[in-house]
Amino acid sequence: MLDQVEEVAAQANAELHKISSPEELEAWRVRYLGRKSKLITILRSLGDVPIEERRALGARANQVKTNLEALLEEHKSKLVSTSHQKLESQKIDITLPGEPQQIGRLHPTTRATEEICDIFISMGFQVAEGPEVEWEYYNFEALNMPAEHPARDSFATLWVDYRTDSGKMPMLMRTHTSPMQIRVMEKTKPPLRVIAPGRVYRYEATDATHEWMFSQVEGFAVDKNITMADLKGTLFEFARRLFGHDRKCRFRCDYFPFVEPGVEIAIDCFMCGGKGCRLCGNSGWIEILGAGMIHPEVLRVCGIDPEEYSGFAFGMGVERIPILRYGIDDIRLFYADDLRFLKQF
Ligand code: DAH
Repeated sequence: MLDQVEEVAAQANAELHKISSPEELEAWRVRYLGRKSKLITILRSLGDVPIEERRALGARANQVKTNLEALLEEHKSKLVSTSHQKLESQKIDITLPGEPQQIGRLHPTTRATEEICDIFISMGFQVAEGPEVEWEYYNFEALNMPAEHPARDSFATLWVDYRTDSGKMPMLMRTHTSPMQIRVMEKTKPPLRVIAPGRVYRYEATDATHEWMFSQVEGFAVDKNITMADLKGTLFEFARRLFGHDRKCRFRCDYFPFVEPGVEIAIDCFMCGGKGCRLCGNSGWIEILGAGMIHPEVLRVCGIDPEEYSGFAFGMGVERIPILRYGIDDIRLFYADDLRFLKQF
């Protein structure tokens, strides 16, 4: 039995060194000093041990017990102090200022699109959206530009023919948002007041003033008795709300196959007030959109009787707004994904 006591002492000692948590330490205590442990069982049954052995065994067993109890206390306080150290080292200074959070922001094109749309929505226009991959019919034919029409040359087109079992069908990346006029008028009876924002594509080499993808907002109104005065009033009001209430507007003749007459609208330069500067190319005027009275032929292909109804339409480039406002000198910056540029807005 004395051997058993020695064995317990050696084993308990060895195990104690590996213990690093209070839970493990408690298990160790139960194992070696608990009521059912070998050592305590031996101590409790000393009375059954022959008298000659009893003294030596009792003395040794009690010594081991006292020793283990002392080791237990020592180890306990060691654990407490290491966990204190740990807490100490993990202490944080809650008075330090927080790390700045990166806040997401809207792309300048998105912001300008929303600004334009908000103005027209407040005038009673509704928003419509349509496909960027478009049929040749909607992008050209129905807009009074049949095949071979010279105006097609001004729209450098990215073709993406649609192949079927029976052959190829001409599809393209829409070169403007005007096809949305046809898509809406085909399906909806006047009165109509609609704006259609979206991306458009041109097959073009890029430079500081040309991108192969950019954004436009199209708009149109169709009703009985819509006249050029409605066009002028609506777009004049729009230009002033966007660029300032003392802006002047200039309407000049322009040609677009889908309107008759067609106009180009400019505002007096908000930088120099019309005197001429770098922004307006010394002309004093800045062109902001194309517009006109919807061509009777365009109404007719949509099933709207041009004898009964008339309408005006307009289209504008969206990137142009921030370009003018912030003096951005290269349109390619918009889609170069450079955060240094985008973060400024
Ligand atoms: N679609 C023309 C373009 O991309 C812009 C335009 C001009 C739209 C006159 C119109 C309009 O609705 O009436 O250049």
